[in-house]
Amino acid sequence: MPENFYQQTTETPPTPFDVSLRPPAFSEFIGQEKVKDRVLLMLEAAKRRGDVLDHVLLSGPPGLGKTTLANLIASAAGTQMHTTSGPQIEKAGDLAGILTNIQKGDILFIDEIHRLHPAIEEYLYPAMEDYRLDIIIDSGPSARSIQINLPRFSLVGATTRSGMLTAPLRSRFGLINRLDYYTREELADIIERSAGLLDVEIHRPGALEVAARSRGTPRVANALLRWVRDFAQVRGAGIIDQENAASALAMIEIDSDGLDEMDKRLLEAMIYKFNGGPVGLNSLAVAVGEDAATLEEVHEPFLIMQGFVQRTPRGRIALPAAYKKIGAPAPPLKQEDSQPKLF
Ligand SMILES: Nc1ncnc2c1ncn2[C@@H]1O[C@H](COP(=O)(O)OP(=O)(O)O)[C@@H](O)[C@H]1O
Ligand SMILES: [Mg+2]
Repeated sequence: MPENFYQQTTETPPTPFDVSLRPPAFSEFIGQEKVKDRVLLMLEAAKRRGDVLDHVLLSGPPGLGKTTLANLIASAAGTQMHTTSGPQIEKAGDLAGILTNIQKGDILFIDEIHRLHPAIEEYLYPAMEDYRLDIIIDSGPSARSIQINLPRFSLVGATTRSGMLTAPLRSRFGLINRLDYYTREELADIIERSAGLLDVEIHRPGALEVAARSRGTPRVANALLRWVRDFAQVRGAGIIDQENAASALAMIEIDSDGLDEMDKRLLEAMIYKFNGGPVGLNSLAVAVGEDAATLEEVHEPFLIMQGFVQRTPRGRIALPAAYKKIGAPAPPLKQEDSQPKLF
């Protein structure tokens, strides 16, 4: 399997493939109905008042459509979008440079907003609240603060880790949206739409077959579709049906639940090395040789959603489905569970 097949990292810059399959209008953005409803309502209200849109936060695992939504918001508002990301803004001057280039009503999209430098966050507060930047120039006795008035703008922030956002920053958003994993039917709709754009014919059962293994994630669905299309062109009649979709995915060893190598390694480590847990995130990261943030943002939410892993205050534990998945004997009852407590 090609490395990075799933792009299973934390936020990655969009690939050309992502961009070409990105829905250009809300009507083509499938699923996330609650988020769409709220955002469309806000857009409508701002339009009627002739006001700019309030600041919006989008959170959720990678590949669920945060960047896509930010683009849709900007085009629905009929304004320009300026894109940056938390780690890219190193100095107050960087932020000032961006904000002073903005026109009234424009969208400032800050990806990975949880990675903003704390000092930069402080500058952002008055900018979000009063459209004002207070910049300190010079240092020591000659230090003074200058105020720059900004055009009214809307901040759209995206994060894979909303828990890492500070309370003051979070409270300055008018709307906070959490994106959920997509259902199999929704993913099949997305796959059919993408197949149309890629000019390949697909039958519904074929789309559902790919959808089942897409980890609830449109970006994964599109990546798998690309592979299945190649397979169907070479080994089939160029049409994707259930049979060749299944063969194509078996050829790259995609698990029937969409688990990848790292997911399985995680479950194995939990069960064999840590006796099913509870185990802390950092110990797990060392055991499987993966960065803790990637485990927490990419792998864990999916394994929890699928009922393989549970998060407890004492650490992560492997659930019976995890034992079944990796073919390990069912967990023995732990001492503490089986013996009545005396006091
Ligand atoms: N609701 C959706 N409907 C159709 N395609 C989607 C949807 N959400 C995401 N996609 C597709 O998945 C890809 C990844 O989405 P993106 O917005 O880059 O995710 P994120 O920013 O959350 O990581 C996009 O290129 C787009 O083609
Ligand atoms: Mg993104």
